[in-house]
Order: sequence, then structure tokens, then C-alpha cells
Amino acid sequence: MRTQVGIVGAGPAGLLLSHLLHLQGIASVVLDNRSREEIERTIRAGVLEQGTVDLLTRVGLGERLAREALFHRGVYLRFAGRTHHIDMQALAGGRVTIYPQHEVLKDLIRAREDAGGQVLFEAMVTGIEGLDAAPAITYQHGGRERRLECDFVAGCDGSHGVCSRALPDRGVERFERTYPFAWFGILVEAPQSSDELVYVSHARGFALLSTRSPTLQRLYLQCDPGDRVEDWPDERIWSELRARTAADDWSLKEGRITHRLVVGMRSAVAEPMQHGRLFLAGDAAHVVPPTGAKGLNLAVSDVEVLADGFAHHYRDRDGRALASYSADRLPRIWKGQRFSWWMTTLLHRGPADTAFDERRRMAELVELVASPHLCAAFAANYLGVRPLTYA
Ligand code: DHB
Repeated sequence: MRTQVGIVGAGPAGLLLSHLLHLQGIASVVLDNRSREEIERTIRAGVLEQGTVDLLTRVGLGERLAREALFHRGVYLRFAGRTHHIDMQALAGGRVTIYPQHEVLKDLIRAREDAGGQVLFEAMVTGIEGLDAAPAITYQHGGRERRLECDFVAGCDGSHGVCSRALPDRGVERFERTYPFAWFGILVEAPQSSDELVYVSHARGFALLSTRSPTLQRLYLQCDPGDRVEDWPDERIWSELRARTAADDWSLKEGRITHRLVVGMRSAVAEPMQHGRLFLAGDAAHVVPPTGAKGLNLAVSDVEVLADGFAHHYRDRDGRALASYSADRLPRIWKGQRFSWWMTTLLHRGPADTAFDERRRMAELVELVASPHLCAAFAANYLGVRPLTYA
């Protein structure tokens, strides 16, 4: 089999890239070792930046999103038992859009299907070769060894995928940080406890009240990275969430927990994000901790730039945009890295933290909510927009 761009990974990066290439008349094949059901079922983050919503809408993927997404003006920060509203719409001119990643994936898979696109599920990629001149992806599908020849390989298969490992050690620098905490995430059948997301900094650890719909809530609490789902019986989850989120005239709405998972926290960047005819996008190239929900949004803006590079290459016979893909993307990726790191360290406590760290963190939170300038910078970063008033 032969195509123009061989795409490894049917996550948001791979599927969106395939869709954008199709709109430019460029052929691609997407390979993923997971089944379609598994991909559409996997629960991930749910906050879309304004630029992500605008792009999805522009390329014909915004219809269900416009109907089903929840739109918030801002978020709440809760600490020292008090709640502070950050009105992001007023501060930065955008909205917080809640639309789960697996819903984005369903829309993308449907669009590829409608356009007759080739997405091979349960296709296990075993290797990529010929990256200097004539790439090929080898994979197993339907019990047979197969080979996809292509002009380019787009590595969209996440941080533990084949493509990230295919970057050579020489000439590629990897930057990494792990955090001494994780998130315990649950889905709960209950009404919303708050009209907008609540990020909580508490001496017992971070908590986040997010939502999926008026009847399904997404809640997180900081836990130990070694914790397993079995370590958290329901009563422990609720008593911890109650303690951390406590505030005057407010109570947590509880319900049946339908899903539980532990989310690890890591920051990582590979530089450059390309090697020969291999281009990495999304988690294959960089990972952020979940606080601030930047992962999907960074992946989407990667493939927007990458698709543009391929379009210039095929349409105008101009390879410059493709050649500068990594250099073009890295400043924005580091902006997202800095923000995700900052929000994570501002709201979480590490086991080695001292009373000094506690006081310093509290002083920073107090300064943040008291300053329109700092709030505007926070809002612009959170929404992924240019700061308006307070640049
Ligand atoms: C969600 C996840 C995040 O990481 C975040 O910062 C906000 C919301 C979520 O899953 O809803």
C-alpha cells in the first residue's frame, strides 16, 4: 500500500491531521493499534481553547460541538476556604469550552468515514524505516504483516509510541520533569456543584470540579503517583473531596461514581520534533501535566501548522514551511509548558514541601486574584488567546 502521508496514531492529532490533509487534497492513511470502540470510550480532558474551537468550526467539525458543548465565562479559584471568580471572558475575550476529547474523536472519525478516509484500527505498528528518503511503516493487521509506503510519516502515537522512540539520540534533546503527585479522576452521576470549573488549592492537596454535562460531573483530586484505583474506596474519595472543596454556603453534590482512574503528571519536550521525513505532533513530541488542560489544544495547533507545511510542499512545491515546522512550533509549546508547570506547582503540594512553600504559595494566590494584570495573563494563557487589555 502507498500513500502521501502515513499517520501513526488515531488520537486527536492523527485524525485531525488526516482531515486537514484531505481538505487540501492530500492523501493519508491513519494506523492505530486500538479498536475504534476503545478510542471512542477513553476518557480524557475536556477543555478546549478558543483557537481549537475556531479551527474545528472552520474545518466543518463544529456542528455537534456548538450544540452540545458547555460554554463558561471563566473559572473559580478556591483557597483558604474562599472562592474567587476569574472572569476570563471579560479579561481575555474568549470562552471556556467544555467538550470532552472523546467527543472530538467521535466527530473526527465520523468525518473521516464520511469522506472515505482510510483509518485502520487494530493495526499494530511494528516499525518505521527509510526516514531519510523513502519512508515505510510496517504493521500487523488482520493477522498479516503489512507495509505502508509514504512520502512522509506523521508521528501522532503519543508519548510511549513507536514514533517518539524513532527519533535518534544524536541531535535530539529531551527535556523532562516528573511531579511527585498524580490525579485521581472520577465521573459522577450528579448535578453540577458549581456553575463553572473550580480549581482548589488546599493543605490536603489539589482538587478540581469539572463537568461533562448537567448530569455527569468530572472530579479530580491530587493523590500519590503510586496510588491504584483500589486504594480509593468511595467513602475515602468523598471525604477527601468534601474536605478539600469546603467553602461557606456551598456543598458538594455527590452521586454514583461510574469511572475512576489515576492520571500521571509529567512535562516533556523533544527538540527538534522532526527527523528526516518523520514529523511528530501532540504527545509524541511533548507532554504536559493535566492542570490547565493544554494537551489536546497543543496537539491541535501542532497539526494545524503541520498540515499547512504539507500543503505548501504538495501544492506549491515549497518545502520551507515543513522544514521549519519544529522551529515554528517550539516557542508555543514552551509557552504551554510554562503555563501547565506554573498552574500545577501553584495548586499542588509536593511531599518535600515545607511550611515556607505553603506560605509562599498562598502569597502567590493572593497576589494573583488581587491583580487584574495577573488574572488577565492567566485568562489569556488558559484560553490560548492573546492578552487584550493587559499585555
Ligand atoms: C478537565 C481537565 C483538566 O486538566 C482541567 O484543567 C480542567 C478540566 C476535565 O477533564 O474536565
